[in-house]
Amino acid sequence: MATPPPAGTPANPLAPGWLQVPADANALDPILWPAGARRTPSGELEIGGVTAGSLTARFGTPVYVVDEADARGRAAGIRSAFEAEFSRIGTTARVYYAGKAFLSTQIARWMAEEGLGIDVASGGELAVALAAGIDPAKLGFHGNNKSVAEIDEAVRLGIGTIVIDSAIEVDRVAAAANRHGMVQAVRLRVNSGVHAHTHDYLATAHEDQKFGIALEDAPALVAAIRSHDALRFLGLHGHIGSQIFGADGFAEAAARLLTVHAQLLEGGPVPELNLGGGFGIAYTAADSPTPIAELAAQIADSVAAECSARGIPLPAVSFEPGRAIIGPAGVTLYQVGTTKPVAISGATRLYVSVDGGMSDNARPALYGADYSARVANRVTDAAPALVRVVGKHCESGDIVVDAEYLPGDVKPGDVLAVPATGAYCWALSSNYNYLGRPPVVAVKDGEATLLVRGETIADLLARDTGAGDIEHHGNLNGSIR
Ligand SMILES: Cc1ncc(COP(=O)(O)O)c(C=O)c1O
Repeated sequence: MATPPPAGTPANPLAPGWLQVPADANALDPILWPAGARRTPSGELEIGGVTAGSLTARFGTPVYVVDEADARGRAAGIRSAFEAEFSRIGTTARVYYAGKAFLSTQIARWMAEEGLGIDVASGGELAVALAAGIDPAKLGFHGNNKSVAEIDEAVRLGIGTIVIDSAIEVDRVAAAANRHGMVQAVRLRVNSGVHAHTHDYLATAHEDQKFGIALEDAPALVAAIRSHDALRFLGLHGHIGSQIFGADGFAEAAARLLTVHAQLLEGGPVPELNLGGGFGIAYTAADSPTPIAELAAQIADSVAAECSARGIPLPAVSFEPGRAIIGPAGVTLYQVGTTKPVAISGATRLYVSVDGGMSDNARPALYGADYSARVANRVTDAAPALVRVVGKHCESGDIVVDAEYLPGDVKPGDVLAVPATGAYCWALSSNYNYLGRPPVVAVKDGEATLLVRGETIADLLARDTGAGDIEHHGNLNGSIR
């Protein structure tokens, strides 16, 4: 291993305030990396017992790597934390994996094997879950504009729950259930007025957004649901946002939903309450999300207190985390193509260009999301330099990691690893600039398994009706990067 870089490298004035100069720019901070990530004795990054070098040699770059044991461990850990805390207060909890974060048939199977239900948000996600052989009764179906065809298919297949998002959907779901002679269990998505973002939450009376209905309209819609023999009302559903670090927003949302829940109990059974997902993860060393076990305990205590204050029985409570399960399990490997020092007001930022970008990780461009990075193929004792990792797309906002300290000798040919890319990266990927989507590879116990192959030039041309004879193209089954 390399010796640590010289102590006391001064902070670069271009660095954001939250970014500290690391004592060792090769170190893998456990808060950011999957449980199976470590440096080999020669300094290479290894995940799940598979080295970065063997992954890139076999699958090329970029490649999404998922640490299977880490993903399964988080799924099981979150499920058991919620089950234990809600059992402690005298009720039950159920965890659905939010498939929108990252869904493939194999990932769906991991989640089902770890005892989770799966939440799908489109006919396509439903098809993936079914192709994985998941029991439809263990699925929930969400969305503000589920088509009549999607609803019909979901009901026909015996989906566990449908989350009704508007008055129009009450009749659509009832009609589908009648067509198929079924009784469909439904939840009602409501706007609690609570918005949570990372550390703080904001509570308003109304939300100006497309999901759900205002809490004050819930009683009328629930009456409409109850008027249909083909519908069985389970309870209210709320989701207050994503990448949330504390329990306060969930507690406030639970309080608001339970006030209406208590009202609804006067007209019939309300056996459940769904508080959605949104639990945050660390993307940089400056992030400190509350451990899930603590969140689960605090949320359970709030639900217990709110129910007791209203004199109502405890409902069964469900949750739908996506990011907190799959986000930290994913690492994207890229190859460095060029580096370029850019001088700004007397300081220098090193631009490091990799062979992917906003097509495989849209989150920095979409939300200004921060990430971290490490050189994966070696360690070095070069002093840390402030870098911005950028992609190869024709957008100046094509940023992969806005600010990070890497060893200053990072160079073309190095493999760069970006952790915490398991959630909403592959799911939001695109073919911008005709880059094929990278492959997804699971690693476990020294074995790498291809979950989804990368897109080839042939894939990119397959739907273009004017492509004609593409056989002259020399690399149809590969990609050119
Ligand atoms: C209704 C609903 N449930 C669950 C989730 C999952 O959120 P997260 O991945 O942040 O846990 C989302 C994300 O947008 C959502 O809209």
